[in-house]
Amino acid sequence: MEQTKVVLADHEIPKQWYNIQADLPKPMSPPLHPGTGKPVGPEDLAPIFPMNLIEQEVSQQRWIDIPGEVLEKYLIWRPSPICRARNFEKLLDAPVKIYYKNESQSPAGSHKPNTAIPQAYYNKIFGVKRLSTETGAGQWGSALAMACKMFGLECRVFMVRVSYEQKPYRRMMMNTWGAECIPSPSDRTEAGRQVLAEHPDSPGSLGIAISEAVEDAVSRENSRYALGSVLNHVLLHQTIIGLEAQKQFEKIGVYPDVVIGCAGGGSNFAGISLPFVRDKIHGKQLRIVGAEPASCPTMTRGPFAYDFGDLAMKTPLLPMYTLGHDYVPAPIHAGGLRYHGMAPIVSHLLREGLIEAQAYDQIKTFEAGVQWARTEGIIPAPETNHAIAAVVAEARRAKEEGKERTILFNFSGHGMVDMAAYDAYLSGKLTPHELPDEEIQRALKAIEGFPKP
Ligand SMILES: Cc1ncc(COP(=O)(O)O)c(C=O)c1O
Repeated sequence: MEQTKVVLADHEIPKQWYNIQADLPKPMSPPLHPGTGKPVGPEDLAPIFPMNLIEQEVSQQRWIDIPGEVLEKYLIWRPSPICRARNFEKLLDAPVKIYYKNESQSPAGSHKPNTAIPQAYYNKIFGVKRLSTETGAGQWGSALAMACKMFGLECRVFMVRVSYEQKPYRRMMMNTWGAECIPSPSDRTEAGRQVLAEHPDSPGSLGIAISEAVEDAVSRENSRYALGSVLNHVLLHQTIIGLEAQKQFEKIGVYPDVVIGCAGGGSNFAGISLPFVRDKIHGKQLRIVGAEPASCPTMTRGPFAYDFGDLAMKTPLLPMYTLGHDYVPAPIHAGGLRYHGMAPIVSHLLREGLIEAQAYDQIKTFEAGVQWARTEGIIPAPETNHAIAAVVAEARRAKEEGKERTILFNFSGHGMVDMAAYDAYLSGKLTPHELPDEEIQRALKAIEGFPKP
């Protein structure tokens, strides 16, 4: 019988995260303080994050030990399996072997607990009592709600309004794990009130929700902010995905020709791909592809520039591909991909030619996701559908070229709480959405005059 799943025993779980900063051929540009234009120091970030996470953010050490208490929680569902998608392969009828790393089996349903757990842990041991955050699709908010409860922290989540309305069950999950969930923009913060004064019907965006969560955290005692993507320490925690995948492939003597992940802020894509980027830096031949939405085409149509991570300009200036911090993406159903920027690490790798990016319209992604559900069974998160659409495109190319390919992609989450999106697709209510150039040019005016990386 041919093997379909490759699993690791509990004791085989990686004990360290991988920090790509130690291997970059060219160092990254630093984040800048918007007031001074100088690189930010750890003390600038101290009101927002605990120092132990700031140390990870700036660390150049290649391997960072995973604390025992974090490993203990990871073992609730990790190591996650790698599975061969034989039924989907049959449907595509192309010379490809498709493997997926199944991150949808976590308690919250996605890769997000991989960083929620260490972030809650490091805040806890630093003496923090309460975390604020934002969430797009609700995956991150629910993961942090769960992690905070596990480590005895309070949690408040600002959820992008359009997702709050599309996905009531995510709010209920957060409530079940003991967190408070507020639709953003809200009247709880100055940042939210400003948006509401100008746009009372604003669908919200991750940029707005981040401003609200940061303001909420820094204006309270013993409170910090947690981010579910974009920053170096978040990507670091997610490397457990790719590190496990490499061990699993070693067991069956396989190495991928292409590694694919969907990209919102860049964390699941980085999580699966950074250990493979390391191999590529050291001479391995493979392609690494990030799939983003055509309606929020940060990497494929944005410039590489310094920009804020949020609308109210409260974060440092980050060197990244961006559509401008006041860009409010169309309310597509993949809420977790509606972010104006891309993680500085992912942006740097794209600029250096170590990875590539592709954009997909949401209709194409749901088409791929439904084909997947009807062959492999699991209903993917709308974000994950972007990775599946990229797998389909890769398989087509392999067929046209008559070349065999082994594909690995990150199955970042399930869509069991996203059924309204599937309903909209199946009843023909989803519309294609391509972003006009003029809209991008307008949005980019927000970063004119900023320093250039
Ligand atoms: C299932 C799933 N996949 C992907 C993403 C995109 O985020 P990131 O690019 O940080 O992985 C999200 C974000 O919420 C998500 O929920």
